[in-house]
Amino acid sequence: MTNTKTHKVTLIPGDGIGPEVTDAVVRILEATGVKFDWERFAAGAKAFEKYKEYIPKELYESIERNKLALKGPVTTPVGGGFSSINVTLRKKFELYANFRPIKNLPGLETRYPNVDLIIIRENTEGEYVGLEHEVVPGVVESLKVITEKGSTRIAKFAFEYARKHGRKKIHAIHKANIMKMSDGLFLKCAREVGKGFPEITYGEHIIDNTCMQLVLNPYQYDVLLLENLYGDIVSDLCAAFVGGLGLVPGANLGAEAAIFEAVHGSAPDIAGKDIANPTALLQSAVLMLRHMDESAAADRIQTALEKVYEEKKSLTRDVGGTAGTKAFADAVIAAL
Ligand code: NAI
Repeated sequence: MTNTKTHKVTLIPGDGIGPEVTDAVVRILEATGVKFDWERFAAGAKAFEKYKEYIPKELYESIERNKLALKGPVTTPVGGGFSSINVTLRKKFELYANFRPIKNLPGLETRYPNVDLIIIRENTEGEYVGLEHEVVPGVVESLKVITEKGSTRIAKFAFEYARKHGRKKIHAIHKANIMKMSDGLFLKCAREVGKGFPEITYGEHIIDNTCMQLVLNPYQYDVLLLENLYGDIVSDLCAAFVGGLGLVPGANLGAEAAIFEAVHGSAPDIAGKDIANPTALLQSAVLMLRHMDESAAADRIQTALEKVYEEKKSLTRDVGGTAGTKAFADAVIAAL
């Protein structure tokens, strides 16, 4: 049954394709009858124009209050400019677990059928701490920070998730043959946590081999536990198994707050053309509904989405259709 409660949710439409996919998803969410009170904020370059801050104080306060946000992608300048809004929010709210399920949608032909992988990425440490400096002209140091606390808590998250959802295997992915201390610590913590979960098979694979193994046979893996950078890269690789970045959802989870966002970025190459696929953000919103205890609405959207994919009439271009973002959203709403 749909709850009568109104949910206050911070909404960050983002930029590039962000506003288009966010509008589509908000329309679908509202069509379920669940009541939302959206607190809408710009972030990144758009926010700077208005507030002279890349992340306005009001946005931080809104997430602190609501403990919940739905976020479109935000562009990060390459090689200079402001720090990533995504990384900053994840660090600020200690959203240490980045959860990304990789699963096929029925009816959609992809490189691999019946993929069912869970990617669990450490979200606050590693190379993404952003500690870089020029030692002398022409020499730059970039620090990778791995802590026992951070590694243990993400390993716990992965093992507890696996136990709760009946997953059988966890592979910790690393490069501890080269980064003996940092990746070595990550592995040591994972092994230690794993001792408390004897029913779950634990394995370790080196990141480069993992990429090849994934492409050869993704079915050999179940849950992948990765540091921040490896998780970022492997997420995009695995998205291609099930149809690409237009499909794969994500959740940034911490003890105090959660931000739901797709794996993909702002896709400047297709922005403003009404061709982006909103499925990835929609599936992120489905994860959000479950997190909010609105499982009935989550199930309804998932069923409607699957129906639209099975009918194949209203799909976007990235998955072989001709429909626009808005028309796709209309089809999901009609199927609800
Ligand atoms: P991207 O994920 O934006 O795009 C990669 C490719 O996938 C492009 O060809 C794009 O057209 C396609 N694609 C992505 N989402 C799609 C969708 N919903 N429907 C159809 N096709 C889709 O990656 P890119 O180009 O490397 O990054 C662009 C910007 O996004 C950068 O500034 C990057 O920093 C930022 N970014 C932001 C993220 C976030 O806000 N969480 C995550 C990843 C990147």
